[in-house]
Amino acid sequence: MTERIYIGVAWPYANSPLHMGHIAGAYLPPDIFARYHRVKGNRVLMVTGSDMHGTPITISAEKEGVSPLEVAQKYHHSFLESWEKLGISFDLFTHTDTPNHAAVSQDIFLKLYNQGDIYKDIVQQPWCAKCRRFLPDRYVEGECPLCGYDGARGDQCDKCGQPLNPADLKYPRCGLCSSEPEFKESEHFFLRLSAFQERLIEWVKTKEDLWRPNVYRFTLSYLENGLRDRAITRDIDWGIELPIEGYPGKRIYVWFEAVIGYLSASKEWAQITGEPEKWRDFWQDETVRSYYFIGKDNIPFHTIIWPAMLMGYGGLNLPYDVPSNEYLTIEGRKLSSSRNWAVWLPDYLSRYDPDPLRYLLSVNMPETSDTDFSWREFVRRNNDELVATYGNLAQRVLTMTHRNFDGAVPEPGDFDPVDSALLDRAEEAFRHIDNNLAGCHFREAIRTAMTLAGDANRYLEEKSPWKVIKQDRQKAATALYTALSVIDILKTVMYPFLPFSSQKLHEYLGYAGKIEDQGWKITNLEPGQKLVAPQPLFVKLDEAVIEEETSRLGK
Ligand code: MF3
Ligand code: ZN
Repeated sequence: MTERIYIGVAWPYANSPLHMGHIAGAYLPPDIFARYHRVKGNRVLMVTGSDMHGTPITISAEKEGVSPLEVAQKYHHSFLESWEKLGISFDLFTHTDTPNHAAVSQDIFLKLYNQGDIYKDIVQQPWCAKCRRFLPDRYVEGECPLCGYDGARGDQCDKCGQPLNPADLKYPRCGLCSSEPEFKESEHFFLRLSAFQERLIEWVKTKEDLWRPNVYRFTLSYLENGLRDRAITRDIDWGIELPIEGYPGKRIYVWFEAVIGYLSASKEWAQITGEPEKWRDFWQDETVRSYYFIGKDNIPFHTIIWPAMLMGYGGLNLPYDVPSNEYLTIEGRKLSSSRNWAVWLPDYLSRYDPDPLRYLLSVNMPETSDTDFSWREFVRRNNDELVATYGNLAQRVLTMTHRNFDGAVPEPGDFDPVDSALLDRAEEAFRHIDNNLAGCHFREAIRTAMTLAGDANRYLEEKSPWKVIKQDRQKAATALYTALSVIDILKTVMYPFLPFSSQKLHEYLGYAGKIEDQGWKITNLEPGQKLVAPQPLFVKLDEAVIEEETSRLGK
């Protein structure tokens, strides 16, 4: 039965290029998942876009001496280029500075306001007398009232993950000049989160066996600590205007509207496809499962705040799963953009192919705990696993068949127990990978696939068709047919992870068209099927890459 799968992906702030942490945490996993479901014949809608508003953008604009829009557009274009090169297959990658997004955000704001889920109140807003300015939330630092961490910011504590208001911080200081800010009164609009507490707890409890344990525990304990209402407007002039007269200097808080992007982007996608009501297929049918792929610093916004907004608005699907990832460290140290302790995606893509990175970040995905990226590991896995194990297997078998059997899949004879054992193992791997992909256990899935490639290599050594062919052509044909079948399976199960090389392999095996259209099948190989002379799938990297690349870090 065809399923419909909605995939929401965290909206990257358009104020800096993407790095490995973003890709491993939030962008590669949904692409694997989307490709998997598309091959299975399911209908997928995967959307996101550039998060263009809020102080992250205005601060960068100030630093670069350009307008917020210029900054945002520059990075938006860089994102689009990166997705294309890395093969991240969004159905739509839009941004939050569109009239459609403003209209959808204002509609939700207004409905919640009219029914009392949004109300006006006075807040204490931090003002730095020395810098002579109101301070954006994240420009106030101090001690977290919950865990005592001294480097907490006015929007969130990075240590314990608690979202905060600037006035919650103990010993607050200005993030620009370190002096103590004053607090001035300002009128703002609040989202009545407290009213959703009980419903949210009930709903989250239904997710105990589904959500990753860290996501579940974090969310539940957060809810059980008691939800407080949150200000969802700001005194700023870059952002979406309020749908209520009389507040020219205020804009909707970036977090409130960014999550609405999940819905507005779906509507925009439907418009573009020429069936403007089609977004409803993914939002108003309760059999659709909605997945949100995000990094762990975004958990509460997707498991609490966005669900509360959806409950308040009514008639739209809540998240089904929120498979949030942990962090990626770089060469054993915490990633830091400001210290350039980061591997930037545009740099990577200017020098190397996409699949080796997709491979490394998949086998090392920070699914349940932090994992490390190192260039040594990158080179090793590329050379030992992609080139020597998987690529070499495909290359050897295809070339040998090509040479000895007229460039076509040979007719096998009877399978002996060794042939059958490999075919059985391949079928078992296929099912195991299927289940793991469906459950968002990507690391286990790709590791199983690479193990199968190793098994096939050992099989080939044992069978040595290149020797056997001299005495027994039929036996060699059976071995090559068996190995080709396993390669055909590998091509399919590797596809969500390594789309570029899988598509090539698909063509070398003599299939026309896109691998996605072939479907999630064990193997379709027909004796007599014409093969295409193969090129190597992966290239070996020189060890010098390790030194060359690590020396760029931290400079
Ligand atoms: N721009 C935010 C960040 O990079 C993420 C926003 S996810 C959203 O942390 F859903 F809120 F948009
Ligand atoms: Zn200051």
